[in-house]
This record gives sequence, C-alpha cells and structure tokens, in this order.
Amino acid sequence: MNENQSNLAVRKLLAKFSHTDPDDWFLTFKARFGLAVVFQAIYDIYGHGEVITQPYTCITAVNPILAGNLKPVYTDIDPTTLSITNPEKLYSSKTLAIVLQHTLGIIGEDSSKIADFAKKHRLILVEDSAHCLTRMATDNSGHILADISAHSFGVEKVIQNTKFGGAIYVNPALKKKNIDLYNKITSRLLDLPQPPLSLDLRSRTYRFQNGVLHRLPNSIFSDVRNLAYKAHIFELAVAPYEQSGEQSTPYASTKFVNNTILKHLPSLPAIYKRRLKNTKRYEKEFANNPDFKLITTVEQPLLTFPILFKDTATATEVYDILSGAGFYIRRWYSPLLYPGPTSNRRYFYSSKMAPLAEDMHSHVLCLPTDLSPEKMDTILKLLQPVKNPVEKVIKKAKN
Ligand SMILES: Cc1ncc(COP(=O)(O)O)c(C=O)c1O
Repeated sequence: MNENQSNLAVRKLLAKFSHTDPDDWFLTFKARFGLAVVFQAIYDIYGHGEVITQPYTCITAVNPILAGNLKPVYTDIDPTTLSITNPEKLYSSKTLAIVLQHTLGIIGEDSSKIADFAKKHRLILVEDSAHCLTRMATDNSGHILADISAHSFGVEKVIQNTKFGGAIYVNPALKKKNIDLYNKITSRLLDLPQPPLSLDLRSRTYRFQNGVLHRLPNSIFSDVRNLAYKAHIFELAVAPYEQSGEQSTPYASTKFVNNTILKHLPSLPAIYKRRLKNTKRYEKEFANNPDFKLITTVEQPLLTFPILFKDTATATEVYDILSGAGFYIRRWYSPLLYPGPTSNRRYFYSSKMAPLAEDMHSHVLCLPTDLSPEKMDTILKLLQPVKNPVEKVIKKAKN
C-alpha cells in the first residue's frame, strides 16, 4: 500500500477500536512529535503559559511542552493511578493546559473530575494514552473527555512489534471550544514532512539491529549500542539530547511505519485480552501478599502491572531475581522524568514538587502483562511462595 492508502487503513482501524471517526486521527512518526505540534499550536494561539503535568513520566512526554515554549508545572501523583492529582493546587492565570497521562494504561476514576476542572477553567485537556493505545477516558455517556489524545506504537508500548509510529486523536468537539486552535493543530499535523532518508532507514533496520544488539554480552551491550547511535545507524528510544530538553523536528508517519502497524494492529483485541487476563491474575494472586502492595486493582488491560515494595533495596533484589529468571521488568519511572534529565533546572523541576513520586519511584517494579499462561505460572511462583515470599525468594537466590 502507498503512503496515503496505508495511512487511511491505520486510521480506520484506530477509529474502529475506539468508536471514533478515521478523519479525527493523525499519524506521526513518534507520539512525541504529535504532542510537540499540539503544544506549539497552543503557544501560537495563547502565548507563554504553563502546562500542568507530572514528573512520574518519560522525559519524551515533557519535551514537547518545552519545545512549544511552554512551562511544565508538576503535580504529585495519586498513589493508586500514578497519575496527576489535585491540579487545582497549581492552577493560576498562566495555566493553559493539563496533561492527563494514563500511566501504565491505568485510566483512573478521577479522569472526569480532572476534565471538569479543565472545562471550568477553559484549559486544553491533553490526554497521554501512550500506554493504552485506542483507550481514552470517557464520561458516563461514552463521550471522549480530552480535547487531544496521544497514542503510541513506539518501543515498549502496547503492541510490541511496531517500534515506531504515533497517533493523535483530535476531538471534533474542540472546534466549538476553539476553532483557531483546532484548525492550527489539524492543519499542522496534516502538513508534517516525511522524515529524512537516514531516519526512515533507521526505522527499517531497527528490529534487526536491536535483535543483534540483544545477542551481545551484557558487558559490551551499552557501548556497542552507543557507538551505533553515534554513527547515526541506530535510533535510541530516548536519545541523549532528549535528556537535555531538546527535541527533533516533528515528522509524519511513513509508508514503512504504516505498513508495519497494519501487520500488527488487527491483533490489538487479542493483545488486550491477554493483558487483561494477566492483570486480573496478578490482582487475584497478590491480593493478600504481605511483602509488597498492589498499586491498582482496576479491571483494565494494563501495559505492565505495578507493585510497590517497602524500600528500594528490596525492589532491587527482586528486580535482579526476576531479570535473572529471564523476565523483562521495568522500573518505570525511576528516575523520574525517565531516564532522567541532565538538569532539573531545564525542566523547571524540583524534588519538593512531588514528594510522593520522589518517595515511590524506586520502590516500584512493573511486571509484564504480555506473558503466556506458562510464563505467568513461573513469575507468580517466583513471587508467591507460601510464606514470607520476598524474604524467601531473596534468601534462596543468595544461597
Ligand atoms: C507516557 C508517555 N508519553 C509519551 C511517550 C512518547 O511516545 P513515542 O515514543 O511514540 O514518542 C512515551 C514513550 O516514550 C511515554 O511513555
């Protein structure tokens, strides 16, 4: 399929899964590029101002705010959703927008409250659905709450094999709220240029290169990967310049990216079915576990399942054991503004702004939800011996 045909086919599938209109979806090379277009348009319409967001996130979710000349201001997190809480504490005459991130795919009950708050103060509500492709917060009648919603096909997202691609849903209701903003965002998303040949090539070779890199011994993995990055032949999920608040020019999705998405997107319902089943299994089997806390008990197909340990040392020991047994465990988002900014000042962030996020981030382990039933049995057994599970597992590993 050529670029236009594949673009339409992807949008039709996104619309089908989210009960929306294909015309309201816009495809980008990465979700961060779409977000950059959105914040730049907000700046162009409203001028300088602030965007309420959270530090418990990937740095690529905050860079678009900076790239748009806006200032991020940070709320602490709700410990049951790992997402923003009490935006009213940060509200001022300078506030222009709120980012409602569904961390790990947890769509919290507070979403409506936050949307009401945004509506009351005429703020733009930007939803970050990077972890819950096609899933968006709705009101009781099923209407999408956000003005803009960002979705990702990138590395470590809901669909494993796509690696590149972002999709921005622009709520047609934004036309009534602010037609200039609606026009600016949609026309710029439609006008995004194709990436340069070098980036197109890196996306085509990514899976092969990544496969080769992961066959290297751990001791040289990072060095070889960095060399490949410096030689401009490998695209990192987060590049070093992005940790300094810089962002590349935004690009549109390509024919290759669209066609790769088309190979995998039809299986989204099956992927979600497995992730939901495993999320429920973790919730059920860990319900009375004395050694770590469940952060959430939502019945949703989470990207990963977060558990909270009493301290960093225990979380690290369990991380090493599970990784040693071949499981891919994420420590999202540790450090905050993951994988950590070169300077907090560039991000207008101070640790005093989010004491709970600062306290929790290194105690959280995120368990995979894309495992086969057999692998689920193994990971559950590792974490769930009969008594004092964590101490026992650690002791056993040390012997
Ligand atoms: C919460 C969140 N938002 C946005 C992004 C950006 O997505 P993409 O990699 O498609 O640019 C990411 C991942 O990097 C993310 O974790």
